Amino acid sequence: DAVPLEMHKVRIVQKLNLLPIEQRQEAMEKAGYNTFLLQNPDVFMDMLTDSGVNAMSDKQQAAMMQADDSYAGSETFTRLDEKVREIFDTEYFLPLHQGRACENLLSKLFVKPDTIVPMNYHFTTSKAHIVINGGKVEEIFIDEALKINSEHPFKGNMDIDKLKALIAINGAEKISYVRMEAGTNLIGGQPFSLENLQEVRQVCDDHGLMIVLDASLLADNLYFIKEREEQCKEMTIKEITRAISNLCDITYFSARKLGNGRGGGICTNNKEAYMKIRELIPLYEGFLTYGGMSVREMEAITVGLEETMDENMINQAPQFIAYMTNELQKRGVPVITPPGGLGCHLDASAFLDHLPQTKYPAGALAAALYIASGIRGMERGTLSEQRDEDGIEELAHMELVRLAMPRRVFTLSQIKYAIDRITWLYENRRLIGGLKFVEEPNVLRFFFGTLTTD
Ligand code: F0G
Repeated sequence: DAVPLEMHKVRIVQKLNLLPIEQRQEAMEKAGYNTFLLQNPDVFMDMLTDSGVNAMSDKQQAAMMQADDSYAGSETFTRLDEKVREIFDTEYFLPLHQGRACENLLSKLFVKPDTIVPMNYHFTTSKAHIVINGGKVEEIFIDEALKINSEHPFKGNMDIDKLKALIAINGAEKISYVRMEAGTNLIGGQPFSLENLQEVRQVCDDHGLMIVLDASLLADNLYFIKEREEQCKEMTIKEITRAISNLCDITYFSARKLGNGRGGGICTNNKEAYMKIRELIPLYEGFLTYGGMSVREMEAITVGLEETMDENMINQAPQFIAYMTNELQKRGVPVITPPGGLGCHLDASAFLDHLPQTKYPAGALAAALYIASGIRGMERGTLSEQRDEDGIEELAHMELVRLAMPRRVFTLSQIKYAIDRITWLYENRRLIGGLKFVEEPNVLRFFFGTLTTD
């Protein structure tokens, strides 16, 4: 089996602590069995997210030192603007403070009450913004998407027949836009193919519908397209990026993920859409030359986006994730396959098959894993959903613990430690009980909710 190779060397380090297990148990109780509420000094390997925590390159750090602070006409913004428009091949770029800020403005402007936003899969913040504006999310993923173990190379594809049926039943006027998420976050960072996007475009053209692309996790999706899709074998990463962007009307991204900085942005060739969004930027984000980002972050993104076009850079996360996933599978631990982007995903339903979804098996597994190893993962299951209008639990399609792979952060020996501890936990899985809420927030409850053992 392929062993991943780090295509970089470590030049700045951050010391880690590995607390004794008794102290980890105490820290977990104090955090209300919610890994979001753990303190970083108590965490050994932080695999909560890849958001804003990917390693930066020497070139990014250097660029941050020459940032131009001027409020208007800043050179820093000009550099970012030119780079984004070059990479996505678009006329217009608007800066925003992060990915969900893009979702806020796009939903405010384009989601009308009682309309539908079809998508290949929802993301927590994107769905919350659509729902708050009176819209409804319809997920039209392919059947393979929810199979924990599959050979399908593009589990993030949209089901074209379901899209056509949805339009036929509801009428195109009931559809705000079609949202495509690169590297579907909640079902294991599974990519869509360029071919699938081309088919979605065709249907949208037939009905005058816009495609909005969430490119936050585009880097992994680009790697998978290049690796797995016949028509793209000879294309460069930059060519694939432009081909994707050219099929979409609006592209937005969280630069906490794409570009390895902090911030976000929206790009488009549609002047009308651009003018509408532009009006809201100074109101909600900041002036048009920073949109809530610091100049240093913008410099880092400019360099980070260019580095994302390098295959030896974007292969790091998928290759480490594949190694971890394959090694766990060999040891009998239930994981999502094929390995996707973003992170390694444990299947908590199978791992803890003695717990019903109402006892939050994914939350329980994330808490137990921290106690057993000092590793912080993230619940991606029913806790990450919210109750419906009648207060009834919406059970998630999948109960996952996501072990995100921040880019170029962990070494192979650390990943081996994770594999060893997860395997131990699997062998002792009957020790793990369920959870119940102590304090349950109404919106995005997984962020601050506190729980206790059931
Ligand atoms: N879209 C996707 C696909 C994301 O993964 C995220 C963030 C966002 C939008 C929102 O971007 O955080 O900059 O506001 N995902 C993070 C995660 C939070 O940990 O998966 P943001």
